[in-house]
Amino acid sequence: MVVDLLIEHAAQLITLASPGGPKRGAAMRDLGLIADGALAIAGGIIVAAGPTDVVRAHAPEPARTIDARGRAVVPGFVDAHTHVVFAGDRVSEFERRLEGATYLEIMAAGGGIMSTVQATRAASDEQLIAESAARLRKMLAHGTTTAEAKSGYGLTTADELKMLRAITQLDAIQPIELVPTFLGAHAIPQEYTGRPDEYLALVVEEMLPSVKALGDPLPFVDIFCDDGAFTTQQLDYVLQAARDMGFPLKAHLDEFAALGGTPRAAALGATSVDHLIASGDADLTALRDHPATIPTLMPATPFGLGLGSYAPARRMIDEYGLAVALGSDLNPGTCWCVAMPFAMALACRGMRLTPAEALAGATINAAYAVARGDRVGSLEVGKQADVLILETPDYRHLAYRVSENLVETVVKRGEIVVERSS
Ligand code: NIG
Ligand code: FE
Repeated sequence: MVVDLLIEHAAQLITLASPGGPKRGAAMRDLGLIADGALAIAGGIIVAAGPTDVVRAHAPEPARTIDARGRAVVPGFVDAHTHVVFAGDRVSEFERRLEGATYLEIMAAGGGIMSTVQATRAASDEQLIAESAARLRKMLAHGTTTAEAKSGYGLTTADELKMLRAITQLDAIQPIELVPTFLGAHAIPQEYTGRPDEYLALVVEEMLPSVKALGDPLPFVDIFCDDGAFTTQQLDYVLQAARDMGFPLKAHLDEFAALGGTPRAAALGATSVDHLIASGDADLTALRDHPATIPTLMPATPFGLGLGSYAPARRMIDEYGLAVALGSDLNPGTCWCVAMPFAMALACRGMRLTPAEALAGATINAAYAVARGDRVGSLEVGKQADVLILETPDYRHLAYRVSENLVETVVKRGEIVVERSS
């Protein structure tokens, strides 16, 4: 076999091997760590992973070899929740919040998400793609190799389709693999003030068929169900219709208040339920009863909002045995964060995850949260070669150090796409 790339002598090869599903409960701490490890890659796929002497036997004459002595090698990060595609910024709103206004007050006064909707509608396709591509470059430099990307700043059929087209184009022109999500039910647009059900009828009757007509693979369908956003009944209406049309599902839930949407979304078979800061026993029990639904947590959001409260991740893992995933939630309102290591650092401090759990959340479990667990998120034979080489010998530095980029080399589908000398 012709091996294109051999990475050998890694101080730690963190495989995150997890045959058969995401890592649940205590298994989130099993990293599949191999000392003096190596990976052989051919045709963009991992063909061998193990101790260097064993892997070398499979790769007699690799086209290229990287000596990873003194370095930890981990799977590329999967960012399970982003709003990376948008135009403009909301820096003035950030300042207003620091002066005392709350996120929900600003939203109720027509700012917040609506202000990004205006900027995104006004942007040309080229501008939207250029602004978003700049963020994706930074995400890649910090080790993200797969990212979910939502629409939701268009809120008309044409503008939502424009956002989904931008996601498709961005997927094609840069290395991060994007997993699209249609979030038409992100907010009630100005034109429908006071008429949320009429707006959602448009989402269901016009937008969903138009999105479906774009063809396979279908994007996820998501809804923001919370105080100041949509109700549990509205979540039921949109997600049931989407499920009946064959769409996979996600939902923004319990970010500010637990309204009962988490059990509903889980019962509808959602692939992930996201945020869960205010989730209580009934929500966590529903997640235990529906193990296919992955709780996806974005600790940079309550940090970005200065809320000081985080999702009950320890209870999820210890009491309920759940498979917790992490995302950045990169967006212009609550959390402009491009770096998964920052989300991991916060997961450890705000939610008491161990560095191992944070890494599992940012890789294998996040891969399952975007329904790509069969292809990415771990370093196993047959999976896509999405690999990071860190400048430190110990993976725990990822969560331990903050504000420093420790990612030295990024490999996407077997190609070296970032190389930085440290
Ligand atoms: O995940 N909660 C709703 N959506 C985003 C915020 C979007 C925005 O403020 O622009 C979130 O936090
Ligand atoms: Fe979000």
